Amino acid sequence: MGKLDGRVALVTGGASGIGKAQAVLFEKQGATVVVADRDESGARETAGAIAADGGNALGVALDVTDEDSVAAAVSATMSRYGRIDILSNTAGMFDHFAQTLDTDRKLWDTMLAVNLTGIYTVTNAILPHMIAAGKGVIVNIASGAGLRGGGGGAAYTSTKHAVVGYTRQLSAGYGKQGIRVNAIAPGLIDTPMVASFSQDEDTLAGLRQQPAGRLGKPEDIANAALFLVSDDADFIHAVTLPVDGGLIETL
Ligand SMILES: NC(=O)c1ccc[n+]([C@@H]2O[C@H](COP(=O)([O-])OP(=O)(O)OC[C@H]3O[C@@H](n4cnc5c(N)ncnc54)[C@H](O)[C@@H]3O)[C@@H](O)[C@H]2O)c1
Repeated sequence: MGKLDGRVALVTGGASGIGKAQAVLFEKQGATVVVADRDESGARETAGAIAADGGNALGVALDVTDEDSVAAAVSATMSRYGRIDILSNTAGMFDHFAQTLDTDRKLWDTMLAVNLTGIYTVTNAILPHMIAAGKGVIVNIASGAGLRGGGGGAAYTSTKHAVVGYTRQLSAGYGKQGIRVNAIAPGLIDTPMVASFSQDEDTLAGLRQQPAGRLGKPEDIANAALFLVSDDADFIHAVTLPVDGGLIETL
């Protein structure tokens, strides 16, 4: 028996890193997984690897900044599987710690479009189907940079704080209609997004100071996401769970 037997889960950003790890784990726990990503070939690759292992997965193109693309992916999922029980809003971009004076309007707008408006667009496309079904679970991948300053640049930090607020408001607005929404605040996780600095000796030395003493793995976040989207977390709404080796609480 898997924790997600019979559920249909759509994971944005599922071609890489944290999204991919969730797609793989959710399927292992019994879910049918729709791997949705702007990187269509990556999405198909993740879905193909899951299917090759005997699992049930579909890879679809989905650009969270493009309403038509989101609508097409949701409609393809609905016509194939008839419902979406779980949504993981994982697609995101980093701003490489650009302070506000180094953030031009293009970078600012892009960060908001992907990390914040993208989550709103995907959620608004899927939520009506969940409400019609009387239930649904959403997990938003925020960041430690959504809980304090210094974990990203001006735009990234702003968007991730907003994701925490959006998570709370979704819960306030739709919890009583059977929709359970939570977020995760990952610390530094070993994915392509942070490859440019995650292996620096300074970064690694800093990580050794935190309680876990190591860099996070995508699977660390996937395990927390699995818990939050499973029935084990049935009474948990509106939280942002740090999964960061203790970093935020011991700075
Ligand atoms: N890696 C970390 O240390 C870390 C820490 C905190 C939070 N996060 C968050 O975790 C999430 C996943 O990051 P990751 O580290 O796995 O990065 P990643 O770069 O490995 O994966 C991000 C995925 O999002 C996809 N994506 C980007 N823009 C998109 C768009 N417009 N539409 C659809 N898909 C799009 C990319 O194609 C990619 O597959 C992000 O929201 C990120 O902010 C990561």
